[in-house]
Amino acid sequence: MAALPDSLETSLLTRLATGTAGVVGTEFLRCLVAELAAALDAELAFVAELCGEGDAVTLASAGKPGVELREGQAFALVGTPCEDAYLHDIFLVPRGARLRYPRDRFLRAHGLDGYLAIALRDARGRPIGHIGVVARQTPFRPAPSELQALRIFAARAAAELERQHQELAILEAADKERLRIGRDLHDGAQQRLVVLGHALDLALRELEADPSRAARLLSAAREQAVTAGRELRELAKGLHPVSLDRGLAHALSTLAGGSPLPVQLDAVPTERLPALVEGTVWFLVSEALSNAIKYAGASELRVAITVDGELLHVRLSDDGRGGACPSRGTGLQGLGVRVETLGGTLSVSSPPAMGTTLTARLRLRP
Ligand SMILES: Nc1ncnc2c1ncn2[C@@H]1O[C@H](COP(=O)(O)OP(=O)(O)O)[C@@H](O)[C@H]1O
Ligand SMILES: [Mg+2]
Repeated sequence: MAALPDSLETSLLTRLATGTAGVVGTEFLRCLVAELAAALDAELAFVAELCGEGDAVTLASAGKPGVELREGQAFALVGTPCEDAYLHDIFLVPRGARLRYPRDRFLRAHGLDGYLAIALRDARGRPIGHIGVVARQTPFRPAPSELQALRIFAARAAAELERQHQELAILEAADKERLRIGRDLHDGAQQRLVVLGHALDLALRELEADPSRAARLLSAAREQAVTAGRELRELAKGLHPVSLDRGLAHALSTLAGGSPLPVQLDAVPTERLPALVEGTVWFLVSEALSNAIKYAGASELRVAITVDGELLHVRLSDDGRGGACPSRGTGLQGLGVRVETLGGTLSVSSPPAMGTTLTARLRLRP
């Protein structure tokens, strides 16, 4: 490739941009590798995603006839150049790949000797996959401008992978939530209504023979109805806090007012914020409060929410025993996903015996 005139070399960027214009998702990855393989005259170009320890799975691939890496195919990284790709910014083996990686059966089977890869990293710099390009003809030496184009498109591919992860995480979080609601309904209100039905049946039967027993049964049924109503109300409140309709300040004072643990509202914006942001803050406070009640043995929860330009800072601290660990439950993890989906960050600080503080930073225009 080095022999190509400059205008053709720089055209890789244009070519990738044109070839992937207007496509998103996996189709974007497919177009990207198809253009890459063709432009670099490579036998194969592919995008793979890391999955588990030392394995990757092909998300998209394009190559010349006979050199095939199926989409969805998993492969082990050990002993392949793909393993080394994660140790470098850009990893290039211009020639002799088969000799250097004798355990790589794919290279051997197809007589491939040139290899180029770039690791894909998420927003925090953690590796999530790589783009690989494999060539038969050597030396395989793409021009600096081509590597630069590859870098730019690797960043886009990484963003695409991350978006897919986030969508999956949201789906999973939503499924978990549905499961929890289903279980709550089943164990709570549904059981009460069954008991209530029985009590009414019995009362009906006793109505003439033993009116006073019937009355007792009816009053028990009435209690069950009241409890079922209260449980449904609690559940509904957790799904969408009605009090939010009148703004965050109102919703948080309602939450604080009904809490068995004192809640100190140090700062709460009085103006209306975007609905998604208000909802997220409410869920944060409500989770911090229920954690403080359930686990912390705290004597109060302090809430400070402040607007700072385009950002909203949320700080929720209890004075309990500390030791909160998001990986042990679902509440904090679910909130983390929710906050990150809105482009914000959530951190948990919970040293033993020093209380627990949740700090979130949210963008006011998600
Ligand atoms: N404020 C807190 N003080 C002490 N421990 C906490 C606190 N919050 C959470 N934890 C601990 O961290 C774990 C994870 O919390 P969370 O993600 O909210 O889980 P869950 O969904 O079980 O409430 C809890 O099981 C609990 O052991
Ligand atoms: Mg919790």
